[in-house]
Amino acid sequence: MKKQVIFGLLLASVLLCISGQDEEDYQEPPTILVALLVRNKAHTLPMFLSYLEQQDYPKKRIAFWLRCDHSSDDSIDLLRQWLNESGDLYHSVSYVFDPDEQSYANESSPYEWPASRFKHLIALKEEAFQYGRDIWADFVFFLDADVLLTSKDSLNVLTRLQLPIVAPMLISESLYSNFWCGMTEDYYYRRTDEYKEIYHARKIGSFPVPMVHTAVLVNMNHKAVRNLTFDRNKLVELQKSRQHEPLYDGPADDIIVFAISANSSGIPLHICNDITFGYILQPLEPGDTLEQDLQQLVNLKGMMVNDLGAVPPLLDYYKHLERKPVKNKLSLDHIYMINLKRRPERRAKMEELFEELGIEAEYFEAVDGKELTTERLQEMGVRFLPGYEDPYHHRAMTMGEIGCFLSHYRIWVTMVRKELKEVLILEDDIRFEPYFRQNAVRVLNQARSVVEYDLIYFGRKRLKEESEPGVTNADNLVHAGYSYWTLGYVLSLQGALKLLAAKPLEKLIPVDEFLPLMFNRHPNKTWSEAFPKRNLVAFSASPLLLYPIYYTGESGYISDTEDSKQINVDTNEEGEARLKSDREQVFGQGVESTLDQQLKLGESLSKSHQEL
Ligand SMILES: *[C@@H]1O[C@H](CO)[C@@H](O)[C@H](O)[C@H]1NC(C)=O
Ligand SMILES: *[C@@H]1O[C@H](CO)[C@@H](O)[C@H](O)[C@H]1NC(C)=O
Ligand SMILES: *[C@@H]1O[C@H](CO)[C@@H](O)[C@H](O)[C@H]1NC(C)=O
Ligand SMILES: *[C@@H]1O[C@H](CO)[C@@H](O)[C@H](O)[C@H]1NC(C)=O
Ligand SMILES: *[C@@H]1O[C@H](CO)[C@@H](O)[C@H](O)[C@H]1NC(C)=O
Repeated sequence: MKKQVIFGLLLASVLLCISGQDEEDYQEPPTILVALLVRNKAHTLPMFLSYLEQQDYPKKRIAFWLRCDHSSDDSIDLLRQWLNESGDLYHSVSYVFDPDEQSYANESSPYEWPASRFKHLIALKEEAFQYGRDIWADFVFFLDADVLLTSKDSLNVLTRLQLPIVAPMLISESLYSNFWCGMTEDYYYRRTDEYKEIYHARKIGSFPVPMVHTAVLVNMNHKAVRNLTFDRNKLVELQKSRQHEPLYDGPADDIIVFAISANSSGIPLHICNDITFGYILQPLEPGDTLEQDLQQLVNLKGMMVNDLGAVPPLLDYYKHLERKPVKNKLSLDHIYMINLKRRPERRAKMEELFEELGIEAEYFEAVDGKELTTERLQEMGVRFLPGYEDPYHHRAMTMGEIGCFLSHYRIWVTMVRKELKEVLILEDDIRFEPYFRQNAVRVLNQARSVVEYDLIYFGRKRLKEESEPGVTNADNLVHAGYSYWTLGYVLSLQGALKLLAAKPLEKLIPVDEFLPLMFNRHPNKTWSEAFPKRNLVAFSASPLLLYPIYYTGESGYISDTEDSKQINVDTNEEGEARLKSDREQVFGQGVESTLDQQLKLGESLSKSHQEL
């Protein structure tokens, strides 16, 4: 150990006290020791440390054990700054920074796990654990800087559980999390149905699982935890001394050894999803680049805006490090976002999303159904499609639905007036899928290269189970069938002209019925016949790039176009998703490494929201 400084003389006083030499300087042991190992985390540390500092837990009862080595970025500088600015707030900080070694021998990527790296990491984790015992911490919280604990209650909730080992369930951009629900005979990840029930919070509580990692709180007051270890040799020794059979013969991976060590000491591991604790970055693999982590952060920030209304702020002294993507129009001529003036909170949220995701969109004030009157509609020349009634509620169009139609209609007119060739029209109650920007451009390029399109749905509700034929030579496009919703769609100038030529204001029908009529996939023949020219060329992105924020009928749902909550919405189910041990690649078991990584990250996510 090159340098070790104990902040605030605290350890010294504790040790003195233990040896009975100095009663006066005695200070209470900390409740929680946060054990943090950092390597090349300059891109997450400001958020990580800011959110930790915002915890609603007495800082004087939190001690840190901090190590940073083999880093080639600014991690050490950032940690020094934190120490300088915030260190005194905490019980104590034990730290060692080693700026000399910047990589491990023969390492081709910082996302590689050579045996030497494991050995180093395991030794440090053992040391942290021992330190926790020495200073009599009630809990040791093993934490990685990839964890963003956005809930201020995280430490309170976790410590109150009084479980021997518990992890706060963390959400990622896909199905990845910090626990497993199944383990194979040879100690690897096994997929189970229960995993998704817990991940999607279909059941809530603390559940025993075979593995937790990355953010793990160990309760040091449980006697049996004293024997826990991250070290395979120590585990085997212990098993031998207990005549435990069979002896552990699995990988040296610290998280697996720790989980088995707990199990063989009879200690259950729990995952807790009582609250939304926070978010986690999926670990990168050799061949990946920092760019992918930065994109993951963009995705997670988008999720934070959806879940929390905004990305929680950084500490003042890190504020200048905040990075936002440069905005663009996704290769389109224009992007409009329709919003009712009396829903400023939705507009604010959408604008926050545009900031975080880098989308250049223009506000378009919606026509408010509440301000429409029959006279006003007559003045505008609006007439209704004879015999139209809502298929679910058997009622005429609501003023909200009329306002919604008129809002979309005005954009189509604007497109023609301004000769905008390709426009994305967004409503204000949407959630962007991760990698939205990249996938939107990918979908658009596919459409442009195969056909002259009129309309592409980015988000919608499919109404019929019929399979939709894929578009030849376009992996992410299908021919759209009967669909509802107008959450987000790209319209071409030609498409706008076709929609206007149908003179829809003279036979008004809700806009999400009108579009399928125009591409001739509407099942109602009577209505279809009212629009003789149904030649709109319409596709849908597949998988979809947008979803509604709230599903009809769920708490929090407010619809301005529908009075009722009767429409049955299938919650979107995830299909296959990539799930793996953090470091599966090290042991080379069942890894498909052929896929282009960029694609893989993007795809794992889109797969997770595939429609059934
Ligand atoms: C530590 O903080 C002091 C006072 O805030 C500041 O003047 C000094 O530059 C800081 N040093 C480092 C290394 O950040
Ligand atoms: C690094 O590679 C060289 C050449 O292949 C080899 O001789 C050496 O043992 C390797 N070092 C380690 C630590 O693996
Ligand atoms: C640790 O394991 C040893 C060997 O089985 C056992 O004797 C001892 O009681 C254990 N310690 C605790 C605290 O469980
Ligand atoms: C240890 O693992 C076995 C097999 O997975 C499981 O049945 C048992 O409940 C585990 N024990 C504890 C204490 O978690
Ligand atoms: C089409 O709509 C009309 C008018 O609402 C309705 O009377 C008719 O039953 C519908 N036809 C079908 C096949 O759903």
